[in-house]
Amino acid sequence: MPLYLDPEELRGAPGPHLDLIGAMAFRAAGAAQRLGVFEALMPGPLGAVDLAARTGTDLAGLTVLLEALASFGYLDRAPGRAYANSPMAVSTLDRRNPWSYAPTLAFWQDVLAELWDGLEESVRTGAPQVDFYAWLEGRPQTLAEFQTMLDGMAAGLAPLVAASAPHPGERLLDIGGGHARYSIAFCQAHPGLTATIVDLPNALEGGRARIDAAGLRDRVTLLPGDLADADLGAGHDTALLFNLCHGFDEAANRALFKRVAGALSPGGAVIVLETFADLPEGTPATTEAFIRAFSLNLAATQGGRIHSFAEIAAWLSGAGFGRIERRPADGPNELLVARLEAT
Ligand SMILES: C[S@@+](CC[C@H](N)C(=O)[O-])C[C@H]1O[C@@H](n2cnc3c(N)ncnc32)[C@H](O)[C@@H]1O
Repeated sequence: MPLYLDPEELRGAPGPHLDLIGAMAFRAAGAAQRLGVFEALMPGPLGAVDLAARTGTDLAGLTVLLEALASFGYLDRAPGRAYANSPMAVSTLDRRNPWSYAPTLAFWQDVLAELWDGLEESVRTGAPQVDFYAWLEGRPQTLAEFQTMLDGMAAGLAPLVAASAPHPGERLLDIGGGHARYSIAFCQAHPGLTATIVDLPNALEGGRARIDAAGLRDRVTLLPGDLADADLGAGHDTALLFNLCHGFDEAANRALFKRVAGALSPGGAVIVLETFADLPEGTPATTEAFIRAFSLNLAATQGGRIHSFAEIAAWLSGAGFGRIERRPADGPNELLVARLEAT
C-alpha cells in the first residue's frame, strides 16, 4: 500500500494492523475510482465543494473519504483547502495511459468484494464456490475491465514472446486468446501465419476491434465457444495456451490437452505461458506474494491454481506430447514448449 512508513514505525507496527489499513485503503481507493474522484482531479487540484459537485457526492461524506485517501498516499492536500492526485495516483490511475493500473484496481475490487466470501468454504471443500466466468458474463463492466487488464499485461509481453517462441508454422490456434494481443504479435512476427482464436463470445469483443485496428481481419479468425465442447478444428501447427491452465484443475487440463492434441498436425507444438508454482530464483517478494494470493483466488473462484512446471509437463506427456522444454519469457512468466509425438 502507498503508506510510507519510516523503518522505526514499520518495525513497531503489528503486521495484521498494516494489512487492515491496506485492505481499507484498497477499498477506499476503489470507491474513489468508482465515484470518479481520481478522474476529476487529473486536470488539476479542486476544492472539496467543487469535487462534490463534479462527482455528485455529499460534501461531508466526500471530505471523510478525501482525508482518508490523503493519509493513504493517493491524494495530496493542496493550498486553499483543495486536493490533488498524488504523483503515485497520477502515474498509476490515469486511464489514458496504456499501462494504467485503473482496470486492475476496478477488477479486483469486484472480485474481492463479491467472490471471496466463499474462501473458507472453498478451502474446506476443495471446490470453488462460484463460477467465475458465468459471474463475469453477467457483469459487462467487470468483464471489460478484466479484458483491458489482460490486454495491458500482454501488450509488453506479446512481441517478446512471439520473438522467443519456436516458429509457429502456418496455422496457429490461440486457445483462450480473447483480447487477441498474442495472435496479432505472432502474425506480425510471421508474415505467412494465420490464426484462430477460441474464447467465450463476450471475451472476443475487444479482440475483434484490435484485429481490425492491426489490419489483420483476413488472417485472424474468431471462434466463439466454450473450450469444453468447441470444435477446435484440425491441422493446426501450433497451439497457444497462455495463462489458461491455471484456471483449471488436473482433470480439466488433461482433458483439454487431449483435445488440443487432436487439433494439431503431426509434430505440432503446444506453447504454454504461465507463472509456474516453482518460481524462478530471485523472484521479488511482492511478485511471489501476489502469485500465491492469485493462486488462492483461482482455487476459490475457478477450481484452478498455479501449477508447477513438472505437473503441466506430466499432463502433456499423458496427452501424447514430448520434447518438453522450459524457456524464460519475462520474470515469473515462463514458456513450456512441447511437441506432439508420432503415434
Ligand atoms: C486469464 S485469461 C488469458 C487470456 C490470454 N490468453 C492471455 O494470456 O492474456 C483466460 C482466457 O480464457 C478464456 N476462457 C476461460 N474459460 C474458458 C472456456 N471454458 N471456454 C472458452 N474460453 C475460456 C477467458 O475468457 C479468458 O479470455
